[in-house]
Amino acid sequence: MIDFSGKTAVISGGANGIGFSLAKTLGERGMNVVIADIEGPQLAVAAQALSDAGVSHLAVEMDVALREDWERTAKEATEKFGNIHMLVNNAGVSGGVGGIETLDDEGWRWCIDVNLMGIVYGANALVPLMKEHGEGSWLINVASMAGMGGVPFAGGYTATKAAVVAMTEAWALELHNSNIHVSVLAPAFVKTKIHLSHRNRPARYPMKITPGPDIMQVAKASTASVENGIPADQLSERVIEALEAGELYIFTHPRYKSVTDARSASIAKAFDSAANSDVVADVAEEPTMNSWGSD
Ligand SMILES: NC(=O)c1ccc[n+]([C@@H]2O[C@H](COP(=O)([O-])OP(=O)(O)OC[C@H]3O[C@@H](n4cnc5c(N)ncnc54)[C@H](O)[C@@H]3O)[C@@H](O)[C@H]2O)c1
Repeated sequence: MIDFSGKTAVISGGANGIGFSLAKTLGERGMNVVIADIEGPQLAVAAQALSDAGVSHLAVEMDVALREDWERTAKEATEKFGNIHMLVNNAGVSGGVGGIETLDDEGWRWCIDVNLMGIVYGANALVPLMKEHGEGSWLINVASMAGMGGVPFAGGYTATKAAVVAMTEAWALELHNSNIHVSVLAPAFVKTKIHLSHRNRPARYPMKITPGPDIMQVAKASTASVENGIPADQLSERVIEALEAGELYIFTHPRYKSVTDARSASIAKAFDSAANSDVVADVAEEPTMNSWGSD
């Protein structure tokens, strides 16, 4: 069993939903938790709930899309608790919903800045500190099953979540000789407020389009699915179980294996086609790039 007690976790998007549940679950196992979130009033509510549960914590109001906010968060967390042993890059928004012609630049940018760059900046700020103290750490990036296969009319969200999966795979290889364990969490639907993400859309990403009927239909279906999703606390227990097992991919919805099975089968078929192709018959076998620098 992992002994989490006395260690410190920084959890972005920790004021609500999955992030708050993980903060509570890890706090109950003795971790100090830093909840970092853009939603000030809810952050205060979450901090009070952690106090009531006897969890040692710090609340930091910040925007993951701003590098300087991450640097401030790292500083405040370190000043309060010393070494940081876990980063849960959880903050995310369901922006990036729209069709090829209808998702506007601002929607793309908001989604990329929060869902992707928010994770990059978090890792930039905290992984060097984890390497420096060398006590053993976890880096957990929250993606989605949407990152494991395409979702129509959600190209922006899907793209950022696929990027988080790929980036985590790259970082796991990069860090495999360190004692920083890397995971990517890919849930399907969880009962949270993710479908109400626009509540946190900063004014610098003005909404310039009126959603058409196709988008409204997708939004309605995903709202219903989120409302029928699994409880965040169930997901948190599954995360602990997966960390105990040292899993790289953390899944919470076993039925969704059909998505990755279909994708793998389709890719395998395409490789067979390339292997039987005269056009590339003379392409030399060479070590794959995935092993670069990993010895
Ligand atoms: N709920 C689901 O069905 C589901 C499924 C797959 C993946 N996810 C992912 O789980 C993560 C957590 O989402 P959730 O479902 O708990 O939703 P949520 O809306 O309940 O929580 C998201 C949290 O992120 C915060 N946040 C938003 N923008 C931020 C910013 N710029 N800076 C800092 N904090 C910000 C919000 O204030 C909120 O506290 C997200 O990355 C989401 O994409 C959720």
